[in-house]
Amino acid sequence: MDGVTLLSDYKPYPFEIASVSLIFRLDPAATRVLATLDVTPRQPGADMVLQGEDLTLISLSLDGRTLAPGDYLLDETGLTLPAAGLPAGPFRLQTEVEIAPAANTALEGLYMSNGMYCTQCEAEGFRHITFYPDRPDVMSRFHVRIESDLPVLLSNGNPVGQGPGWAEWDDPWPKPAYLFALVAGDLRATSGSFTTRSGRKVDLNIWVRPGDEDRCDFALGALARSMTWDEEAYGREYDLDLFNIVAVDDFNMGAMENKGLNIFNSKLVLASPETATDTDYERIEAVIAHEYFHNWTGNRITCRDWFQLCLKEGLTVYRDQSFTRDVRLGGLKRIEDVAALRARQFREDAGPLAHPPRPDRYKEINNFYTATVYEKGAEVVGMLATLLGPEGYRAALDLYFDRHDGQACTIEDWIKVFEDASGRDLSQFKLWYTQAGTPKLTVSETYAAGTLTLDVMQMTPPTPGETEKPPRHIPLAVGLLSPNGDEVVPTVVLELTETRQSFRFEGLSARPVPSILRGFSAPVILERATTPAEQAFLLAHDTDPFNRWEAGRTLARQTLMAMARGEGAQLDYLDAVGRLIADDEADPGFRAACLRLPGEDEIAAALFARGDTPDPEAIRVARRKLMKMLATRHGAALSRVYDSCAVAGPYSPDAGPAGRRALRLATLALLTTEDGGARAAALFAEATNMTESIGALNLLVAEGKGQGQLAGFAARWAADPLVMDKWRMAQGALTPPEDAAETVARLAAAPEFDWKNPNRFRSLLGGFAANHAGFHRADGAGYALYADWLLRLDPLNPQTAARMSTAFETWRRYDAPRQAHAKAALARIAATPGLSRDLGEMVGRLAG
Ligand code: PHE
Ligand code: ZN
Repeated sequence: MDGVTLLSDYKPYPFEIASVSLIFRLDPAATRVLATLDVTPRQPGADMVLQGEDLTLISLSLDGRTLAPGDYLLDETGLTLPAAGLPAGPFRLQTEVEIAPAANTALEGLYMSNGMYCTQCEAEGFRHITFYPDRPDVMSRFHVRIESDLPVLLSNGNPVGQGPGWAEWDDPWPKPAYLFALVAGDLRATSGSFTTRSGRKVDLNIWVRPGDEDRCDFALGALARSMTWDEEAYGREYDLDLFNIVAVDDFNMGAMENKGLNIFNSKLVLASPETATDTDYERIEAVIAHEYFHNWTGNRITCRDWFQLCLKEGLTVYRDQSFTRDVRLGGLKRIEDVAALRARQFREDAGPLAHPPRPDRYKEINNFYTATVYEKGAEVVGMLATLLGPEGYRAALDLYFDRHDGQACTIEDWIKVFEDASGRDLSQFKLWYTQAGTPKLTVSETYAAGTLTLDVMQMTPPTPGETEKPPRHIPLAVGLLSPNGDEVVPTVVLELTETRQSFRFEGLSARPVPSILRGFSAPVILERATTPAEQAFLLAHDTDPFNRWEAGRTLARQTLMAMARGEGAQLDYLDAVGRLIADDEADPGFRAACLRLPGEDEIAAALFARGDTPDPEAIRVARRKLMKMLATRHGAALSRVYDSCAVAGPYSPDAGPAGRRALRLATLALLTTEDGGARAAALFAEATNMTESIGALNLLVAEGKGQGQLAGFAARWAADPLVMDKWRMAQGALTPPEDAAETVARLAAAPEFDWKNPNRFRSLLGGFAANHAGFHRADGAGYALYADWLLRLDPLNPQTAARMSTAFETWRRYDAPRQAHAKAALARIAATPGLSRDLGEMVGRLAG
């Protein structure tokens, strides 16, 4: 098939490469890379295939003998050495190539960012550096020499020598090429140290550009907390004497777990109270943890091939989520994670891009760094933990590390570990990895003579290419509450394995209120006929924080759906919110989460799921109307909470004060619909931290106000691109829909908008894609503008252009004129000559 890679085609690499030595002579326009590979053939008669793209071959030799063009095949994908010319035993292969890092705008391979050199090799970037078997199952020891006049020269592993203009590094741990990293630049370190529980002293450094040193302390602390947590929760220690993190300004993703030398998007390292929000702090801590945890789940045990990506990503996301639950407020973190899963992964699963956590085909692997691989992958690990219980899960992970340390593994290996550790058959469970789609559970209940019966039906709707959907193995956590709110049956985990199943709870003294899918024990859509009164009861009484929030969310969503169809608001909802606002016992962060209404996209998805054609304008109007109703009805209580939640004293990003600020902003969002923006303007004027400053500004922009504040903010922060991203994001995402496309077009055309930088592009255009009614404007102006910018970015940076095309994944929800506009935009992209493989694959799937 044309350019398609299939899981079923996997074959082991026929050569072993015990060690590789690399010499880099750095130069922006003409870097020389000399590679020496120590090779042992493993299969007689096999050709040696080395990937290599955009490399100028300078010389090639085998055991010291220079090869002539007739001795090998060279094309735009790499180099092949025919078996006939290869020795039967070990040999040494040397290549010299030239590359141009300054011309590398795709940010894959070796590139330059603000005068520094850096690399990004996952998934297939190493082939842009030298000829090599660029696949994760080829693991070798790397020795690296860097020659450059720049003051700081870094690579993986331990430093083994340095002098004027050079440095050498050796990584004792065999690794695949995607974990290789090199950094060279004028950098400053913020340093610390960590002693592992077996007594190894590890030097920790966060490297940043001069001037950013004062924003590194939080990241350094987060790294130490992560190291401690992995020792305690998983028994995993760090395995080198040095751990380096480098912040770079131009980066396609969040961060990268290169062995001993993590490279981070600067927005996920740099934080100060004036420039970073509470959410930024939480995210920085989570991503530092994520990359650190990869050292065991990803690096020590890696993936056999890229189809297995969720082996490292799903597990590592599960680990970073567990870490954040442990170091912050666990219940609230679960709520945030589920809200994000639904907003991104359920949306993906419901549209043309749906795929299993372990796909079996791709054209461009970069297009599979998705919410399904990451977030759903994490949910699947969480379900395994639920099925085995905490001790069983820990035993399985111990076995995984014991059995597979140093290997490149598959999902089959992973499942086998759980089967062996628990003695259970998980073959049905494996469907979670190999099939796409979000199962729908329909639960109904009957009560008679002290017995409650739950009848559960499961069904997974078809997804592209998958029509057969056998039933899944689903852990369903359930508890029962008595009518006075006491917990009569604490949480039990029911296991669903069939299309229909019944579960009985006996010996009850009165009809209980069931609390189903506690903690969101499986990534499914739960459908259950309940009354608003029952939801309000659960919101008030459930002992499971997730289900408490969920009850409120369900009420809010149902009210908003009814309002978007022209019906009135539900009184049960308005009253339940009133009780929550007044409930000073409840955690402020939790109350904030409950006060935030479902977003417009979530309402549109829910309407579409029940067969309606969502009208973006009507949804927006309904949502704003409900906010106003809440403000009118509960104004006094909201103002009281707003005033009482002010956080005094020096700023701390901890969960306590962050929760109070969140509650304050959530009440302010409602109050702002009624007070003309007076309170938000006052908060903006007096704010001493970015959380409140941008929080207030966002609310003003959403009201179509705040021009003066926007100008003031820009004047203050013009020299700080990460802060200005928030300013652009606010306008892209929140400008009222009638002006949004024009505003975005104007900001995008401004000379100071450095659109080639992924953070800049994402802030403005990604913000705009989140502006539901603005992006989906009836005249198609939103789609057209967005397509223009994707086409502009694609020739320079296909990865980011392709990832951002997911804004189009919901176009089939909307009315015929909108569909026609979206289709036209996709067709225009598809017809563009020279389109990248990345964006080409995406628009093909989006339109198909
Ligand atoms: N492996 C990185 C992570 O999840 C993500 C990444 C993928 C970064 C590809 C860059 C390129 O931690
Ligand atoms: Zn990861």
